Amino acid sequence: MEPVRFIHITDTHLNAPGNKPLFKQADMADKLRNVFLHMQASQCQPAFVLITGDLTHDGDKEDYAYFRSLVDEASSSLGVPIYVALGNHDHREPFREGYLGEQASTQPYYYALTIAGMRLIVLNSQVEGRHHGEIDQQQMAWLAEELQESAPLGTVIALHHPLLNVNIASAGQMLANAEELAGVLKEGHVTGIFAGHVHSNNVGTYAGMLSVASSGTAFSGEMIDEGLLRLYDSCSYNIVTVSPSTTTVELITLPATDREFHRYNPALHMA
Ligand SMILES: [Fe+2]
Ligand SMILES: [Fe+2]
Repeated sequence: MEPVRFIHITDTHLNAPGNKPLFKQADMADKLRNVFLHMQASQCQPAFVLITGDLTHDGDKEDYAYFRSLVDEASSSLGVPIYVALGNHDHREPFREGYLGEQASTQPYYYALTIAGMRLIVLNSQVEGRHHGEIDQQQMAWLAEELQESAPLGTVIALHHPLLNVNIASAGQMLANAEELAGVLKEGHVTGIFAGHVHSNNVGTYAGMLSVASSGTAFSGEMIDEGLLRLYDSCSYNIVTVSPSTTTVELITLPATDREFHRYNPALHMA
C-alpha cells in the first residue's frame, strides 16, 4: 500500500483586502500565498491540502469569497483538492455563502471522504460566537457511524480545537467534550488527529492517539511576564505522511520577522 502524503495548514486568519486586517504589520494573504509557493517549490507532491479553521479572522461573506479565490488558485497550481474545517473565528452563514457558494445556513460543516485508501473525517468543533469548541451530539453519532467504515490506511481526523491541552491555552478556550470525543475515536482506526487554534506547535498523544495542534500561517503566541500572551510573526505548516505502520509529521517553518503584533492578558480577554 502506497503512503498518502498531505499538507496540514491552520489558522490563516484572512480578511478581504477592503476589510480591516488582523494586524496592520502583516498581510495574512501574502503569508498564505508564500506557504503555497513554498510547498510547490519543495515538490512534496501532496494528495491534498487540509486547513483546520480560523480560515478568516472576522468571517464575513467577502472574506470567505477572497479566501476561496486564494484556495482555488493554489488548488489549481498544485493540482490537488483543498479541504477546510471551521474555527472559532469562522461563521457558518457567510462561509456557506462566500466560500461554498450555497444558501446561507447555520448547518454545521462536517464530512468524510476516502483518498487513496485513507479516510479523512473533517469535524465541526466550532460553536457559533464562542471561543471554545464542542462536537454536538448529532455530529458525534454521525462520527461513530462513519468510523465503522474501515480503510487500509486508517482514518485521519481534522478539526479546529485540539484534544491536547497545551501550555498557552486555558481550559475554557479548548474542546469542551474532548474526553467524550476520544472515547468515540478510540473505536475507529485513527492514525492521527490534526488541529490548530492554539497558535503554537504541539505534538503528543491523547488516549494513545497521535494528536497535533499546530501554530499555522498567521502568527504564534507565547506566554511572557505577568500572565501576558505575546503574539508574534511566524509561519509554519506540516507535511504529513501516513503509511500502513507509521504517521510522520514534518514541521516546515518559513522565515518570519518574529516581530511582536500584540500582547494581552488572556485571563481578561478572549482573543
Ligand atoms: Fe486562530
Ligand atoms: Fe481558534
